[in-house]
Amino acid sequence: MMIVVMGAAGNVGRPLVDALVAAGETVTAVGRRPIDGLPEGVVSRAADLADPQTLRPVLDGADALFLLVAGDDAHGILDAAKAGGVRRVVLLSTQGAGTRPESYRHAGAFEEAVTGSELAWTVLRPGGFDSNAYAWAPGVRAQRTVAAPFGDVGLPSIDPADIADVAAVALCGEGHAGRVYELTGPALTTPRQRAEAIGVALGEPVRFVEQSRDEARAQMLRFMPEPVVEGTLAILGEPTDAEQRISPDVERVLGCAPRSFADWLGRHVDAFR
Ligand SMILES: NC(=O)c1ccc[n+]([C@@H]2O[C@H](COP(=O)([O-])OP(=O)(O)OC[C@H]3O[C@@H](n4cnc5c(N)ncnc54)[C@H](OP(=O)(O)O)[C@@H]3O)[C@@H](O)[C@H]2O)c1
Repeated sequence: MMIVVMGAAGNVGRPLVDALVAAGETVTAVGRRPIDGLPEGVVSRAADLADPQTLRPVLDGADALFLLVAGDDAHGILDAAKAGGVRRVVLLSTQGAGTRPESYRHAGAFEEAVTGSELAWTVLRPGGFDSNAYAWAPGVRAQRTVAAPFGDVGLPSIDPADIADVAAVALCGEGHAGRVYELTGPALTTPRQRAEAIGVALGEPVRFVEQSRDEARAQMLRFMPEPVVEGTLAILGEPTDAEQRISPDVERVLGCAPRSFADWLGRHVDAFR
């Protein structure tokens, strides 16, 4: 099977490419720029989801597509996929599309386009990623300090490698068409606990400084649209029961429990040294 992976340099895309190659699939890895360090045999191509025309040559001859939410023209993207011969699509959406549709309309529009298409589709709705802790890496490296809001609110953050493994199974296996999977990690952890875990992994204490909601909001507005910032702050500060629930879906699909934050950290601790 020929599988096109969008966002192949990203937190989910990279381990997904590795998992598909390990499963013996032919993979085209797509980013807006050429991607370094790919496994042997993987072709890297440049295309922009914001300009579906650029996808046409990349999708030509593909059987399956791993898609993420970017650009505004989900229908144009799916038309390009169908024209190229794609029969199966796995969409990386977000938990917020289900729990806070007003804030996550962009993801909701992609979900509607995908689930309304004639393609065999699977939608992945992960909660917050363990890799969001990369945002703390500069402060940890420079001052052994983590600054974050809502220090004592626990959420079941997920290792992007588990999202990638679920995506690989949905792209290659049978029985996943028409399914929406909620993806979480195995346990609630708070920002304070995650900061402490970084200290343990480094062998040096890491100080936790609680940001106010306004401080966090101002920081997040630099790289996220306003409705997504509001939705994210609401999840981080006042999560609903659904947002704190530990989903069984990773284990159902993979047959093993999701990886812990400590596991993710063990594989990425060098980013914090
Ligand atoms: N982080 C979370 O907590 C979280 C939670 C739920 C859902 N999600 C979703 O998961 C996805 C990955 O999130 P992340 O935070 O882990 O970010 P990330 O690793 O930085 O991945 C984003 C990827 O998206 C690609 N991309 C962005 N705009 C694109 C475009 N116009 N055309 C083609 N590719 C484009 C980027 O590719 P380039 O190499 O071209 O830059 C990058 O590889 C996002 O779509 C996000 O909505 C994230």
